[in-house]
Amino acid sequence: MRMVMFDSRRYDREAFDAANASGRHEITYLEPRLTPETAALAGGYPAVCSFVSDRVDDRVLEELHAGGTRVLLLRSAGFNHVDLRAAARLAVPVLRVPEYSPYAVAEHAVALVLALNRHIHRAHARVREGNFSLDGLAGFDLHGKTAGVIGLGRIGQAAARIFLGFGCRVLGYDLVPHTGLAGAPGFRQAGLHEVYAESDIISLHVPLTPSTRHMIDDAAISRMKPGVYIINTGRGALIDSMALIRALKTRRIGAAGLDVYEEEEGVFFEDLSNTVLQDDVLARLLTFPNVIVTAHQAFLTREALHNIASVTLDNLTAFEEQRPLVNAVRPSG
Ligand code: NAI
Repeated sequence: MRMVMFDSRRYDREAFDAANASGRHEITYLEPRLTPETAALAGGYPAVCSFVSDRVDDRVLEELHAGGTRVLLLRSAGFNHVDLRAAARLAVPVLRVPEYSPYAVAEHAVALVLALNRHIHRAHARVREGNFSLDGLAGFDLHGKTAGVIGLGRIGQAAARIFLGFGCRVLGYDLVPHTGLAGAPGFRQAGLHEVYAESDIISLHVPLTPSTRHMIDDAAISRMKPGVYIINTGRGALIDSMALIRALKTRRIGAAGLDVYEEEEGVFFEDLSNTVLQDDVLARLLTFPNVIVTAHQAFLTREALHNIASVTLDNLTAFEEQRPLVNAVRPSG
């Protein structure tokens, strides 16, 4: 089937061409993001493939549908950027990749903890300038510390296991009881109050929903241990960025590792190095020595890219063959 892919990068093309080696599907790769302004480019393609940086709202879906789009393929697990109600109204199935490598994201979350705690980013910059002093680079042992994992789904559980491997005590919070880690020495599912009050590190692994938007705000931060590390590889809007900045300034938060940012759209994934950054909040975050920002790259491993491409094309084949759409996402309620 003919599929057009928005916001495609070289690594997407390589992975999808490899997964489509049989040539079963005809893929057109476009660089622009999918927005109301670019949706017309999909005219005549029955399948559209989009990424988390696209904005698939009501208007975009109407335009896609009018142009002949019959299926929307998300090459992501998250789907908060898609108006599922509009898609359902237009009878355009939305198919995602529910799991491609929880390890990729969990390992990146822990990489942020280690880099921040052992000041790897600062040490690297220093030695390149010929400064071999260790002043200000003291970290702490992860062994024996408490890691709070918020969201115990696929990624949260993978992160919890890594923290357990370091000898951390892990307190996990989720809406539902999870048995995957039950009985693992050092792990306990706990209430949010307890996770906030006892954790030295808090790592966020919940989806962005109305109830998780800005869950890390002034009130939540005030319940946390002073000096806590906050790691966000979930979605940017889980954190109220202004509250985070306030708490970093007072040192209430000891460090932040951010792979996602609430206003990342149009900034992350782009090379803006020849322009002036317009987002003052992001610019402020980038000034802190104890903040590391990565541009939504937690998913970016070879294994994840391979799985994303093959599951996306399996989803397309299932649609074409009118088989059950096991990876369809539907509006809740
Ligand atoms: P999952 O669906 O396996 O797990 C999510 C967990 O969060 C579930 O156990 C669910 O019960 C829990 N949850 C939902 N609402 C909650 C609430 N209000 N309070 C407490 N727990 C709640 O999802 P998975 O695969 O673990 O992914 C988690 C999130 O990670 C995704 O939704 C996505 O936003 C993000 N993600 C980020 C990537 C990156 O590159 N930075 C890549 C892939 C996912």
